[in-house]
Amino acid sequence: MNLTINDLAVFTNGSSNKKPIVFVHGFPLDHFMWDKQVDFLSDDYYCVRYDIRGLGNSPAGDGQFTMESFVDDLESVVVDLKLNKPVLCGLSMGGYISLRALERMQDKFSAVILFDTRSEADANEGKLKRAAGIKRINAEGLAPFTKDFITNCYGEYYKQNYKTEIDKRILKSSQFDPAGVKGSLLAMLGRNDTTGYLNKINIPALVICGEQDALTPPEVMKSMAEKINGAEFIVIKNSGHLSPVENPGDVNEAVKNFLDRI
Ligand code: MLT
Repeated sequence: MNLTINDLAVFTNGSSNKKPIVFVHGFPLDHFMWDKQVDFLSDDYYCVRYDIRGLGNSPAGDGQFTMESFVDDLESVVVDLKLNKPVLCGLSMGGYISLRALERMQDKFSAVILFDTRSEADANEGKLKRAAGIKRINAEGLAPFTKDFITNCYGEYYKQNYKTEIDKRILKSSQFDPAGVKGSLLAMLGRNDTTGYLNKINIPALVICGEQDALTPPEVMKSMAEKINGAEFIVIKNSGHLSPVENPGDVNEAVKNFLDRI
């Protein structure tokens, strides 16, 4: 079902009587990145996805976003749909949103799955890179930025075998509202560091990383997982930064094993 909640484009699959899972996508993507997980899980779970404000079908408005406003948006979806302690599942920027959401309101969630993300805030180099990205979008339009950013997300295996899918993804993201993409960059640039909170997470946690993830490599994610009590850490083969897209078979198996146990 397609819904609008708090101006956000929200997509639900499965029965609302089942256990809910909320999926939060990465940058600069949209809810479609979870297609393979939702196909796999929606018989047994109430799968809720939304497009982060400014990306996909969620309008950018004034484009002034913070990580706090992104978490407010997530909360508005959970509250509006009356989700009872959903599993929270976020990738990369969606992981930043998830980690901050846990820091603010862990009691609203029953478990967390963190894909290809990190708890550290941007260091100086990262902040300057975001600023350079905004400057580039202003000078050249969105397409060259999204092409480079998205291409860099995939691992070698996917790049060699799924060229058409990558081109389609780049084309779609290049049609987003530039104000939304720039607003997301600024929100990520200004986010807080959630590392100090990791050892206070007391819900079941699964941490998943693509073995060829160049943006949030396995050693970074392993160290994050080690700080979360009892977290399980899984590396996905033949996959870069977008493991749910690049190797959905292995990812779905890992997610199902985790969900069966909690
Ligand atoms: C993402 O996939 O969401 C981005 O790589 C996050 C980031 O740029 O830090």
